Amino acid sequence: MAFTITPLTAHTGAEVRGVDLARPLDPETAAALNLAWAQFHVLVIRDQRYDPSDFMRAAQVFGTLLQHHQREMHVPRFPEMYFVSNEQTVPGKRFIAGETFHTDHSNHPAPPKATILYPVSLPSSGGDTQYVNMHLAYDELPEAMKRRIDGLKAVHVYLSKYSPRELRPLSEDSRKVLPPPGIHPLVRVHPDNGRKALFLNPVRIESIIGMPDDEALDLVAELMAHATQRTYEYRHQWHYGDMVIWDNRSVMHKANPDYDMSERRYLYRLMLQGEVPIPVEAAA
Ligand code: SIN
Repeated sequence: MAFTITPLTAHTGAEVRGVDLARPLDPETAAALNLAWAQFHVLVIRDQRYDPSDFMRAAQVFGTLLQHHQREMHVPRFPEMYFVSNEQTVPGKRFIAGETFHTDHSNHPAPPKATILYPVSLPSSGGDTQYVNMHLAYDELPEAMKRRIDGLKAVHVYLSKYSPRELRPLSEDSRKVLPPPGIHPLVRVHPDNGRKALFLNPVRIESIIGMPDDEALDLVAELMAHATQRTYEYRHQWHYGDMVIWDNRSVMHKANPDYDMSERRYLYRLMLQGEVPIPVEAAA
C-alpha cells in the first residue's frame, strides 16, 4: 500500500496518509509506522473509519493493549477501551481529563508507553491537544542542571497533594485496584530511540527522594517552565478520522478546555503496555 509520512514540526509529530489500519497490515508497513513513531513521537494517522473493534485492532500495530483500571470510564462492552469526554461530571462539577501538561498514568510502576485517541464527537472549534517534546527539552537544559537531575527519582502517586488540578474522584472499586506508587527517574532513557527525556508529571509527583518537598516543588516547577515552551510543541487540531498515537516516554500532553462546553467532545482512548522507566545510570 502506498502511504506517506510527513513531519508536522521540525521535532515532533508526523502525519500519515494512505493507510487503513482497520484492515490487516503487511509487516513492512507496520515496521515503517513503528519506526516513524519512535522518530516523531506523535503520529497523526488521517482518514480512519473505526468502530471500537477496528480501533483496538489498529492500536495493536504499535503494542499490547493495557486494561484500564477506572471501570466507570469504560466504553460499554469494551473493557480495554475508555473515553475522554467533556460530559465527565459529578454533581455540580465538570472534569476535563488532562487539562494541564502531564504524562499518562505515571503512578504505575510500568506506565503505558502510548496513548491513542480517536474522535467520536468534536466541538466546532477549539479542544486541541498540545504535545511537548521531552527529549529536546532535556537536550537543551544547561549542563549543570543535567548533572543535578540525571540520578534523581520522583515518587508518583494517583493524585499528588501538590497537584495543580483535581482529578475525577475514583470509585471504591477503582481505588481497590490502584497500584503502589511509581518511583521513577526524573530523566529516563527511551528503550527504542536511546534518547534521554525528562519524565515529569506535576499532577502525580509528590516528592523527590532525598529532597525536602519545597525544594522538590521548585525543581519540578523550573523544569516544567522550561519543558512547556512553545519551541518544544506540536499542537494538534482535531479532525474526524484522525487516529493520534503519542509516546508517553517522549512527550507530555494536555487537553484544551477552550471550547463551548454545550458542544460535546468525546474521544475513544486506548493505552499500550509500557515498561519500567530506564534510568540514566542503567543505560550508561
Ligand atoms: C488526555 O490527557 O489523555 C486527554 C487528551 C485530550 O483529551 O486531548
